[in-house]
Amino acid sequence: MRHGVTLDPQEIARARILLEDARSILVLTGAGISAESGIPTFRGKGGLWRNHKPEDLATSEAFRRDPRLVWEWYAWRRELIARCRPNPGHRALAGWAMVSAGVTLVTQNVDGLHEAAALDVADGHESERAFPIELHGSLFRVRCTRCTYRAPDRKMVDASGHAALPHCPQCSALLRPDVVWFGESLDTVLLDRAFRAAEAAEICLGVGTSALVHPAASLPLATLRAGGKLVEVNPDPTVLTTLATVSLRANSGETLQRLLLGS
Ligand code: OAD
Repeated sequence: MRHGVTLDPQEIARARILLEDARSILVLTGAGISAESGIPTFRGKGGLWRNHKPEDLATSEAFRRDPRLVWEWYAWRRELIARCRPNPGHRALAGWAMVSAGVTLVTQNVDGLHEAAALDVADGHESERAFPIELHGSLFRVRCTRCTYRAPDRKMVDASGHAALPHCPQCSALLRPDVVWFGESLDTVLLDRAFRAAEAAEICLGVGTSALVHPAASLPLATLRAGGKLVEVNPDPTVLTTLATVSLRANSGETLQRLLLGS
């Protein structure tokens, strides 16, 4: 996260007008929206992929080779994230999505903080309206490596040895985190919904993503190709910056509050 980045009020005003005038909006979030909750991003300073190799920890080959090591890393992330709370950016987005028609929220994050924010701010509104399409799965779900078992799971995982790792209650095979690993396909139903929303969107609002990992990173491009516009929120420039009608160069916590709630 970069500190001390200030927002240009005129740029915020331009972005607000674009959002207010749009009948359909796709929001795509990435790890940056959770940075202010204390969760490390993947790339950039302090990013997870700076200290770890994805091929050692986030591929099905790595899991087959050493499930204990992979579970240890996911257990560490679960513990870290279980202590984190949604930040003002998640809450602004949830509150706004609940009362605005035509908003589809898509996230690459596996931390469950959009859903937690929706439940926090629901206040009589239907919280499900602010639940995101989780393109890369969830750290707080498991699935079986053999059968179709899949379930929510927030328990701490003991990764001290192979025998202690979580096993399937139906077929006893090893369970794995229900996240998408490198080289794996995304859920086609979710991906389809996300692309349909991207193509129908008059505006794509990209928040806290480096937009380097496809197919998620193709969603803003799908909106642009269909004639829509792009608004970006990110303290650093990305591959989307030059394509954006407005690029708000600031952290998402304060920016989303001002942009979506006017506060
Ligand atoms: P990245 O780590 O690639 O990018 C995070 C982005 O957040 C960067 O562009 C930062 O500049 C920005 N950022 C940092 N602090 C911010 C703040 N306070 N407010 C707003 N933005 C901030 O994360 P993703 O784009 O989400 O995939 O990465 C995409 C995918 O790559 C992840 O879902 C994960 C990873 O490998 C899988 O695990 C399948």
